[in-house]
Amino acid sequence: MPGLLDSYTLKGITLRNRIAASPMCQYMAKDGLVTDWHQPHYAALARGGAGLVVVEATSVSPEGRITLGDLGLWSDAHVPGLSRVAAAIADAGAVPGIQLAHAGRKAGCRPPWEGGAPLRPGDPQAWQPIAPSAVPLVPEQPHVPRAVAVADIRRVQEDFVDAARRAREAGFLWLELHFAHGFLAQSFLSKHSNLREDAYGGSLENRARFLVETVAAVRSVWPAEFPLTARLGVLEFDGNDAVNLAEAVEALQRMKAAGLDLVDVGLGFSTLSPVPWAPNMLVQAANHVRKETGLPVTTSWLVTSAKEADRFVREGQVDFFMFARRLLDNPHWPHAAARELGVERQVLPTPYHFWLQDWSAA
Ligand SMILES: Cc1cc2nc3c(=O)[nH]c(=O)nc-3n(C[C@H](O)[C@H](O)[C@H](O)COP(=O)(O)O)c2cc1C
Repeated sequence: MPGLLDSYTLKGITLRNRIAASPMCQYMAKDGLVTDWHQPHYAALARGGAGLVVVEATSVSPEGRITLGDLGLWSDAHVPGLSRVAAAIADAGAVPGIQLAHAGRKAGCRPPWEGGAPLRPGDPQAWQPIAPSAVPLVPEQPHVPRAVAVADIRRVQEDFVDAARRAREAGFLWLELHFAHGFLAQSFLSKHSNLREDAYGGSLENRARFLVETVAAVRSVWPAEFPLTARLGVLEFDGNDAVNLAEAVEALQRMKAAGLDLVDVGLGFSTLSPVPWAPNMLVQAANHVRKETGLPVTTSWLVTSAKEADRFVREGQVDFFMFARRLLDNPHWPHAAARELGVERQVLPTPYHFWLQDWSAA
């Protein structure tokens, strides 16, 4: 069975290894536009050796931003900056991917290093977020979202479609839809945030409808040979996770029929109870999703050992891994992983591979 440092092919796209840079918000954009921050940041991740670099949550509309510093793709003006980012990733040998997002009721906040609280209602830059129902993310916070009408749902889905078309124009070859972490799509799926009584609430079929329709709509403009993937929150830590996982599987089967190619198994973040953090904490759930849906899977969260990740890949539990903090800390970690795994052949054809080898053994 292939391991962490072996290539991985999905549809028409081949990753040089199974180490991907997970999407990581930088909150360094201006009006959604790429700034001087982004290109060197993403080039470093690609030069470090990752096979796939997924650009951070990029908002499909101004109101879908977590903060004013989020990247966006809601206009053609956003394409040239992201084209340069995609080209920098591809030039360094990685596949350029991008995550499209609408933060839903998590929108309209300050960046984490300024406390992450919602912008104050009196702030001229503040806005009211939208959600399936008027249920705030944090009960005691007065940041109550507006419950969307069906016309709003259509508009958001069109925003996803337009953003996907622009992502293609910008040169991205891998698309991830953000359906996790309490963002808009995941809050449609969750019973805690979706209290609707129309065709988008109630039964699992109804709560999954926004996600399934969005996958189908994006698939219609995203090329068939390029992977269309989604990060889905499959656990909510609300004491009901056997049901949540079973519902996630059923929702994913519907998304598969609508054209989804791979699942990035993620967390729901209901804020209802503390998350039981532990090493490799989502691997088992990811493997369950893989078996039950027949879709290939990736996952993240506290996967830090190359040897363990390699074993999970060789056992066929996951197809590849997304690494976030590992690569933020050291973009060249894939070279260290290759050394740790004793991979002697040149799997990372960059100058770093030569310079970072163990000279004492030469
Ligand atoms: C700085 C930072 C920014 C993040 N931004 C995003 C994001 O834009 N989209 C997303 O789905 N997850 C985001 N995450 C979550 C990561 O993609 C990843 O799933 C999580 O950090 C777990 O992986 P790790 O244990 O390797 O860090 C972010 C994480 C970090 C540390």
